Amino acid sequence: MTEAKRKTVIAGNWKMNKTRKEAKELTDAVLKGMQKLENLPEVVLFPPFTCLDVVAGSAQNTAVKFGGQNLDSHDSGAFTGEISAPMLVDIGANYVIIGHSERRQFFGETNQTVPLKVKAALNHNLIPVICVGELLDERENNLTDPVVKRQVGAAVSGLSEAELQKIVIAYEPVWAIGTGKVCEAAEAARVIGVIRVTLKQFLTDKDMVQKIPILYGGSMNAKNADELLAQGEIDGGLIGGASLKADEFLSIIGSACKRSRLSVAKA
Ligand code: PGA
Repeated sequence: MTEAKRKTVIAGNWKMNKTRKEAKELTDAVLKGMQKLENLPEVVLFPPFTCLDVVAGSAQNTAVKFGGQNLDSHDSGAFTGEISAPMLVDIGANYVIIGHSERRQFFGETNQTVPLKVKAALNHNLIPVICVGELLDERENNLTDPVVKRQVGAAVSGLSEAELQKIVIAYEPVWAIGTGKVCEAAEAARVIGVIRVTLKQFLTDKDMVQKIPILYGGSMNAKNADELLAQGEIDGGLIGGASLKADEFLSIIGSACKRSRLSVAKA
């Protein structure tokens, strides 16, 4: 098994943006643009909860997948304001983002809550996109690797080997998110390598680690996507700001098509 066989994933994290009308326009424009592309990666949209049904309607019978930006670890109950895995499944979602740095920073997400949510997602066959990444202060103090290792270990330590093969990880250095300061491609690839070594510790069949897609996130855009996605270790992107405009997002999908084409050629 070689890294070339991993799935490439281009995911748009819309965060708290878009009305339903805007969501439909954006989804339809992305779908239209994708028709002109070949060797497409897996394209996943993460709209706010209020737009999930609109995106579901447009994405029906297409290759585009979608998911929630968060979920609660319980299936149902007295948890005002929360959304559960069965609810996401009910609306047709395939994916869910877990442990995004904004949730860690503003909404009390921790290395204790993340694994509960990962388990809830997997129990309902949702693919968790587990976000990890260091703060600027941690990077400046040479703590990037231990922080990321701890976050990854916490998120996956309770998973079976079969479950481990169903996850996606996104390496998102917090200082690069929404700042326009992208992590250098070689450095992003290096940290992703550290994540892969960390994941190996939880697998008996070490080769299985080559099946787990690891994305980069943090100011990825139409200009830098080619360079980032040319790194063999970087299996795609979790894209915030640049996923809000169809043209820019399509350009990043185009960069991923080149990577997918190379993968097909190598496989
Ligand atoms: P950004 O966000 O692309 O706007 O930096 C990425 C993310 O938060 O997932």
